[in-house]
Amino acid sequence: MRGRTEILALFVFCLLTATTTFASTVTYDSRAIVIDGKRRVLVSGSIHYPRSTPDMWPDLIQKSKDGGLDMIETYVFWNLHEPVRNQYNFEGRIDLVKFVKLVAAAGLYVHLRIGPYVCAEWNYGGFPLWLHFIPGIKFRTDNEPFKSEMQRFTAKIVNMMKQEKLYASQGGPIILSQIENEYGNIDSAYGAAAKSYIKWAADMAVSLDTGVPWVMCQQSNAPDPIINTCNGYYCDQFTPNSNKKPKMWTENWSGWFLSFGGAVPYRPVEDQAFAVARFYQRGGTFQNYYMYHGGTNFGRTTGGPFIATSYDYDAPIDEYGLVRQPKWGHLRDVHKAIKLCEEALIATDPTISSLGPNLEAAVYKTGSVCSAFLANVDIKSDATVKFNGNSYLLPAWSVSILPDCKNVVLNTAKINSQTVIPSFMHESLNTNVDSTDSIGSGWSWLNEPVGISKAGAFNKLGLLEQINTTADKSDYLWYSLSMDIKGEEPFLQDGSQTVLHVESLGHSLHAFINGKLAGSGTGNSGNAKVKVDIPITVVAGKNTIDLLSLTVGLQNYGAFFDLSGAGVTGPVKLNGLNNGSSIDLSSQQWTYQVGLKGEDSGLPSGSSSEWISQSGLPKNQPLIWYKTNFDAPTGKAPIALDFTGMGKGEAWVNGQSIGRYWPTYITPSGGCTDSCNYRGPYNANKCRKNCGKPSQKLYHVPRSWLQSSGNILVLFEEIGGDPTQLAFATRQTGSLCSHVSESHPLPVDMWSLDSETRKASNSTLSLSCPSPNQVISSIKFASYGTPLGTCGSFSHGRCSSSKARSIVHKACIGSTSCSIGVSTSTFGDPCKGVKKSLAVEVSCA
Ligand code: GAL
Repeated sequence: MRGRTEILALFVFCLLTATTTFASTVTYDSRAIVIDGKRRVLVSGSIHYPRSTPDMWPDLIQKSKDGGLDMIETYVFWNLHEPVRNQYNFEGRIDLVKFVKLVAAAGLYVHLRIGPYVCAEWNYGGFPLWLHFIPGIKFRTDNEPFKSEMQRFTAKIVNMMKQEKLYASQGGPIILSQIENEYGNIDSAYGAAAKSYIKWAADMAVSLDTGVPWVMCQQSNAPDPIINTCNGYYCDQFTPNSNKKPKMWTENWSGWFLSFGGAVPYRPVEDQAFAVARFYQRGGTFQNYYMYHGGTNFGRTTGGPFIATSYDYDAPIDEYGLVRQPKWGHLRDVHKAIKLCEEALIATDPTISSLGPNLEAAVYKTGSVCSAFLANVDIKSDATVKFNGNSYLLPAWSVSILPDCKNVVLNTAKINSQTVIPSFMHESLNTNVDSTDSIGSGWSWLNEPVGISKAGAFNKLGLLEQINTTADKSDYLWYSLSMDIKGEEPFLQDGSQTVLHVESLGHSLHAFINGKLAGSGTGNSGNAKVKVDIPITVVAGKNTIDLLSLTVGLQNYGAFFDLSGAGVTGPVKLNGLNNGSSIDLSSQQWTYQVGLKGEDSGLPSGSSSEWISQSGLPKNQPLIWYKTNFDAPTGKAPIALDFTGMGKGEAWVNGQSIGRYWPTYITPSGGCTDSCNYRGPYNANKCRKNCGKPSQKLYHVPRSWLQSSGNILVLFEEIGGDPTQLAFATRQTGSLCSHVSESHPLPVDMWSLDSETRKASNSTLSLSCPSPNQVISSIKFASYGTPLGTCGSFSHGRCSSSKARSIVHKACIGSTSCSIGVSTSTFGDPCKGVKKSLAVEVSCA
């Protein structure tokens, strides 16, 4: 007899081989991606591996699977993998093979978007900076030096995947790959060469012989056999460029990215669900959420300029890796409903007919199978339609899904899933005061010198463009000038102030006169100049002008984005001299320093013996490094640092950069709404939160970067702040709610085509704590009848059962999850003849 361990090993082996062996052939036809001879309806979601940590990956992938995804999509980030030409890195957070294998282990497919131009709000669109310095290179066009580098990197990735047997043609999970990215949006700027470049890119990709199809997104002239695909908020109107290609949607934007200085965009799930259903209604068979988990732009990875550190994207899984409800749950229900239609969807094209103005039916029917989608695309009016002899209520801007052409399993505007209101619990940083710290603040500091302070500084006549000068080795470039003002200059006599006028390509600028911060400027516009006029006082004799110019993420989008440039390109003038004249300083001899002294001396990791901690901690002072030791908050909840009180800079935890912080960049006060009307076409400006507040004050600190104690936090503060105000914010679940009506379609889970089963089931309200370690601990609200309001502000309506609270209490308290039938058989009837619903708000602990 075999031993237990042997049997267990065999079981694990079977499990691994069962979950990691995928298709052998992947092709496509006019309807769908065809896997091993079978057309498939596929739902995919984007998770970019460097935007989370390897210890988060398995959970993110599992939550994607539970949310009904078949596939994970990721870009490949060239600048991380080849930071120096021919020196590759695939370790840790950028272990691409490990990520793909984890997706495979969960039984999901992979779409590998190699690019290698990726856009993605990623620094320089994913291109390594050294690429820019190759003689004769022109990006993204028919240019030999560029093509040869692009081909080398693409082949490198493809070969790596092949070696690991990760393509479906080898039994692996990768069933699709992308070359280039949205080139069709900007190709006209590249003239005739654009066409030959795209033809070359297509041939090059195909020649790599992956055995699986390639796509190009937003590329209407994608050469065969490359499939051209759609990106956008809606893609139901899209048609591919050949009737031999399936209708595919590679980016269904779940929200939008956040910029420093901007409000926080969000996209109501009713609208996204509507867009998804419309797409499958009108012949689509593949769609991908961009993003399904957005995550965090750690370090200096953000593009820009001014992309924020959070890349939450209002995605179904939030920045911290927790499901966002009801978005995640409602989309899961939509996926289930669509999958119930798969047999009909892959069998035929839809027959589309009008049911009235703005009302549309699509029927997929062959032989014994029939599925239908009924849409009301009106942005205001609900409608009742007749279909196949039955009548159906269609709320405005919604789609009902009928897997059997008769029964509605889901309407996109009716949410059955629970809502979660997240909250953050603040706790102090618990800084460890060490013996040398006589003031007991727990912080030590070091000043960053103003102006030139380190070896390697150099002189140059005139003003230099920044990116060509720093090669993006640092965000910072000093422009320094010393000038003599003769004592007899008349403008010194009358005490009038001079104005320093600086024109820069951005992105941010701090001007120091004679060692003191005189003013700052920030500019948000690509090639347009940032102009600042700073009143200054000069003295007779020697004066120094030190301009600290900063990049805040390199440009990632647009034709020729790689050439947009940054820095103080001039003119720089002294204006307002008393005879009305000005001195142009632009072509003087400037001294340059790339980067900060502290960066060179390893301060981000906390090292250096020079940290000062004996006397009063300087606060609200520009150009200063801070350091402290701290204990990690206990428990498992995700952690953020609340940067309220700080100005602008970058932060490192145990030597790893958690990103740029900028809590003082406040969002304009108008144009936000907490209750956005989902009806009608969405755009990134339609629904925004957080007006008049910092664009981002919370910064994710991955748990896996922390030990329980003795952690080192280092900040570099540019403009001035008070580090003692920093606090932890641990992510909690504030409330859990659900509101379900008695006439709601059955939960998709309980749906079956057997009408007897259906009749026997009632509407159900389900609640489930986010973590299996939690139980429902209190009932904040429960009403059966005609309750009003939304999660967090429910109130009783005119009709309300007196038993609701105790029934819900009995069913839910002490359990991780609970389900309650929404009908008079559970609650009795508090108001005969009135349509009733159940609204519940609970908390978990
Ligand atoms: C698309 C692009 C993505 C991302 C997105 C906006 O145009 O393909 O990479 O930048 O826009 O988040």
